[in-house]
Amino acid sequence: MTIDLAALPHDFLWGTATSAYQIEGAVTEDGRSPSIWDTFSHTPGKIDNGDDGDTACDHYHRWREDIELMRRLGTNAYRLSVAWPRVVPGGDGPVNPKGLDFYDALIDGLLEAGITPSVTLYHWDLPQVLQDRGGWPARDTAQHFASYAAVVAQRLGDRVKHWTTLNEPLCSAWIGHLEGRMAPGLTDLAVAVRASYHLLLGHGLATQAVRAAVPGAEIGIVNNLASVEPATDRPEDVAAARRLDGHTNRWWLDPVHGRGFPSDMREVYGVELPEQPGDLETMAAPLDWLGLNYYFPSTVADDPTGPAPRVRTVRRLGVHRTGMDWEVEADGIERLLLRLTKDYGARKLYVTENGSAYPDVVRPDGTVDDPERVAYLEQHLAACASAVRKGVPLAGYFAWSLLDNFEWAYGYDKRFGLVHVDYQTQRRTVKGSGHRYAEIIRAHGGRGRSAA
Ligand code: FCB
Repeated sequence: MTIDLAALPHDFLWGTATSAYQIEGAVTEDGRSPSIWDTFSHTPGKIDNGDDGDTACDHYHRWREDIELMRRLGTNAYRLSVAWPRVVPGGDGPVNPKGLDFYDALIDGLLEAGITPSVTLYHWDLPQVLQDRGGWPARDTAQHFASYAAVVAQRLGDRVKHWTTLNEPLCSAWIGHLEGRMAPGLTDLAVAVRASYHLLLGHGLATQAVRAAVPGAEIGIVNNLASVEPATDRPEDVAAARRLDGHTNRWWLDPVHGRGFPSDMREVYGVELPEQPGDLETMAAPLDWLGLNYYFPSTVADDPTGPAPRVRTVRRLGVHRTGMDWEVEADGIERLLLRLTKDYGARKLYVTENGSAYPDVVRPDGTVDDPERVAYLEQHLAACASAVRKGVPLAGYFAWSLLDNFEWAYGYDKRFGLVHVDYQTQRRTVKGSGHRYAEIIRAHGGRGRSAA
């Protein structure tokens, strides 16, 4: 399929994304302390096949090889996350120099390869010691997050200009504290709402800390937003769609834009917020860009007896699905990009994650053929280009993911990589989709190299 590449700016960032716990491994090395994901993944029954992130892609030792892969793909940007428990193993207090050294060397390696690093400070791996002291439902965690952010920014900020505070705080709050499918595995609405509040407070405080430490920093927050449609035009389903929009989108976007928490959702949750004077101003600390993670659309119906926000997802028939059983609908990404531009006045946007999982295999000739992922990539890039034609200020796209990796509660079975990982040997193989991505980047006129 053709992608209107001419629509994209000449300095477009073509990237891949990963996160620390999903790829690094080396969980007990060089002073790293356990995170809530170490605890969760070692709790029987929480992760498919009993998998854990102990070794993952062994990126902690193989990062040079992984940068080489990025060079082969021809990407000019890379979104990584820093593991808080490596840098400040006690959650707050003493800094672990070896933890910082790892990221320092990685950043230098990326820059030498001509790849712009984009650093996410929190991709879900809270130090377990802080969970033991209350985790995100406790206000102190927001302050500790800002202190840790300052430490990382001071060390890397001379070379890293592109910063993200939180990745998908909705997963931390709602999936981690309400649905219990992610660490720390709690199922309590009041606790989840408090976590959501302190995540956003932590975001604001960390924004201020990075801004103070890094001249010229470009700071954003990354949300996985839902492109929501009601299953029918029954008023109950329309109201349900509005609630899911509130739960997934507005609850996270409005406070950051100085609009406070949406009153309809405060009513739906019926939980008092732990508000203190000045918090809303902190949460609305000015940002330079917004990040959108998009995977699938949501069609929902009313579920009057279900837990907040009382919606159930409706399966649509005849829609292509990925190996995650997620519907493929590229229009959703365009609608969300347009919405962020129109409703929230975004001046700069990045697609910070987008991708698909399929059960890839290495063929006897050593290649990995993944035509469905190629189609997914092309369709979503075409939708991004179309959004740009309609005035969306999209400055880059980060494919999820560089490598197959530890897909949280799904373990290693779900493969999202443009590069296949054989977990027995740690051998990396560029998939067909990786070659296609390289070709697209070259066609756009970026600095693509041969991926052959
Ligand atoms: C997102 C996460 C990322 C990855 C993808 C598939 O929600 O940010 O770590 O797991 O989903």
